[in-house]
Amino acid sequence: PLLSRILSLADMEAVARQVLSHKALAYYSSSSDDQITYQENARAFTRFFFHARVMKPVSRCDPSTTILGYRSSIPVFISGAALAKLGHPQGEANLTKGAAQTSIIQMVSSNASLSYEEIMATAAPRQPLFFQLYKNSKDEVAEQRVREVETLGYKSIWLTVDALVAGNREKDIRSPWVLDDMESGKTEFHVDTPEGLVEGGDAGFGTAGALVANDDRDMTWERTIPWLRRITKLPIVVKGIQTVEDVVLAAEAGVEGILISNHGGRQLDYSFPPIEVLHRLRQQRPDVFDKLEVYIDGGIERGTDVVKALCLGAKAVGLGRPFLYAQSAYGVPGVVKIIQILEREILTAMRLLGATSVQDLKPEMVQRYLSSKA
Ligand code: FNR
Repeated sequence: PLLSRILSLADMEAVARQVLSHKALAYYSSSSDDQITYQENARAFTRFFFHARVMKPVSRCDPSTTILGYRSSIPVFISGAALAKLGHPQGEANLTKGAAQTSIIQMVSSNASLSYEEIMATAAPRQPLFFQLYKNSKDEVAEQRVREVETLGYKSIWLTVDALVAGNREKDIRSPWVLDDMESGKTEFHVDTPEGLVEGGDAGFGTAGALVANDDRDMTWERTIPWLRRITKLPIVVKGIQTVEDVVLAAEAGVEGILISNHGGRQLDYSFPPIEVLHRLRQQRPDVFDKLEVYIDGGIERGTDVVKALCLGAKAVGLGRPFLYAQSAYGVPGVVKIIQILEREILTAMRLLGATSVQDLKPEMVQRYLSSKA
């Protein structure tokens, strides 16, 4: 369909489902076990309702914010997701260009299918890019990667901590061709998996199992964060926090930010939805929001979802699959389109709430409410 017919992120996903190859769709859409967390990530937003204020002047309304000090036109960033080339030949470069055109920020996955250098070369002058780190179990190997991306000009390190082993994603496991392609070198992916595939990789765990094969399973607050601090000057964000307790430990460890995330439901099934964890954090430890920036990702599909998270104290939210789907379906224009859709939806929600800036979004504007049917 014409891009002008795409009105929502759901419309975009529907197109992607038509055009993606079987293996790409299996890898992108899969989540763990019975997909309960995957479904609940999105559904949980439906439990939060607004208390809208009226009779406020809202003709001027600005949804922009900063993330780690970098300006973003809307409080949304691209969460790092692997293998964008599976969906489109230009892969991650579509996301980089789309982000540049709309002034939002892309987090590049450790398992990007273009090299970190190629992606940086695609970026516009002064366009900030963030880097998602899967820490190799060998400190020296991990250090080399961090130094490489810092030298290339990436602006922050997002250390993923919720993927020490791959979740059980049966759709992906039943569709093993991605692995075959990587092993045979048929694809031109940048990801350096062969060692993992041969030595530690478990083909029985699908693409994801192979990709995490070399990762550090023994990270701790005491050891890993100071280690990272020693080897880089970049701000550090911990990605994949799932409890209030761990947010508090992250604040004590002195990191600049945390991303409350369950990896889009791809890791531990029955993990709590991020919007619920954020809500608990707001209730139990409102002080933490002054110590670090809090972000969430998982199941975000609408501007209202974004606004709810901001009301509860998130500085910004990330989206993973929607960006993969958009670039697969239409390349750069698809990426630009979903950002425009989100911007419009966010502006509409803010105005109807009586808010003209992200600072106006307050906890009292949302309430967790179970309708009598729930
Ligand atoms: C991911 N995610 C992910 N996270 C990460 O830290 N490193 C990675 O390489 C990947 N790869 C990846 C691939 C695919 C296909 C998906 C769908 C996800 C998780 C991602 O960063 C993010 O947390 C979720 O995608 C957010 O959920 P939604 O927006 O997809 O619902």
